[in-house]
Amino acid sequence: MNPVLKNCFDIYLPPVNLYLQSLSFTDDLQKCLAPSLEKAMHYSVDAKGKRLRPLLTIMAYRLVADDWQRTLPVAAAYELVHTYSLIHDDLPAMDDDDWRRGEPTNHKVFGEALAILAGDALLTEAFRLLTEEVAAESAVIVKLVATLAQVAGCNGMVGGQVIDILSEGATADQNRDSLIELLETLHRRKTGAMITGALLAGADLAGADNKLRLRLEKFGQSIGLAFQVADDILDEVGDQANLGKDVGSDRELNKLTFVSLFGLEASRQKLCDLHREALLQIEPLGEKAAELKALADYIVARDR
Ligand code: IPE
Ligand code: IPE
Ligand code: MG
Ligand code: MG
Ligand code: MG
Repeated sequence: MNPVLKNCFDIYLPPVNLYLQSLSFTDDLQKCLAPSLEKAMHYSVDAKGKRLRPLLTIMAYRLVADDWQRTLPVAAAYELVHTYSLIHDDLPAMDDDDWRRGEPTNHKVFGEALAILAGDALLTEAFRLLTEEVAAESAVIVKLVATLAQVAGCNGMVGGQVIDILSEGATADQNRDSLIELLETLHRRKTGAMITGALLAGADLAGADNKLRLRLEKFGQSIGLAFQVADDILDEVGDQANLGKDVGSDRELNKLTFVSLFGLEASRQKLCDLHREALLQIEPLGEKAAELKALADYIVARDR
């Protein structure tokens, strides 16, 4: 592994994981009356996620300031929303998957009702973390809340998930140009938005200027789309044990993906193009952006 990235994993990931594991979501009464809620929430949060969104928040913050431990509640908020999106994504009404993060999916263990509610609670907890746990001026916190609401909501992740579900069964002989546009919008929203939001959150907490913010937004849009193209490729050719989640679900459900529309080879080319576009954005930042560059390289080359 790239030594810069290894160093980041070694330094940033243990505190992120500790912060997430230490969260006590429910109060004593709730823990006594319905302990399964706390268990279901921690079951998915504590499982082995790659923690890419927390890493993006920390790395974006580090472009401006050094005291990155301040980002932990913000980084955790993004990971909670992402985890909720995975729990719901796996439900029988959505992708109907059995494995996630190397474990049986949340609904397989706790049942569908609790999985839905654990997801709802994680989403809500994320906003509690932003409003109660972040050491920053109110104006900064309002900005963090607004960005998370935008990227997670109906014009972000949820909106993308709806397009994903509605476009199941779309075939390549439908109007190709409109399918390509639909696919890009679906990927930019369901995955790219949260990735961009995680970067902007780190930048905003650090007080980045508009120029850097815009640069990170463009970087996030390219690397976010690349991330989902890689996910589509891995669903087709990845190793289930390595990925820790089901493979072949996209094909089984007739999903509109880069692989279904363009095939594997063109999807790999698209991944390279997006990678290059992303790197162009951070190149002018020089050595300061070495961590983000290493993470971008990992996102396109990953096998899990
Ligand atoms: C998977 O995200 C879902 C998508 C947005 C494609 P990750 O690949 O980041 O999943 P974890 O967090 O490592 O489990
Ligand atoms: C889901 O996309 C993105 C989310 C918003 C969770 P996928 O359905 O492709 O994610 P995986 O492959 O199940 O992780
Ligand atoms: Mg899905
Ligand atoms: Mg899925
Ligand atoms: Mg997928």
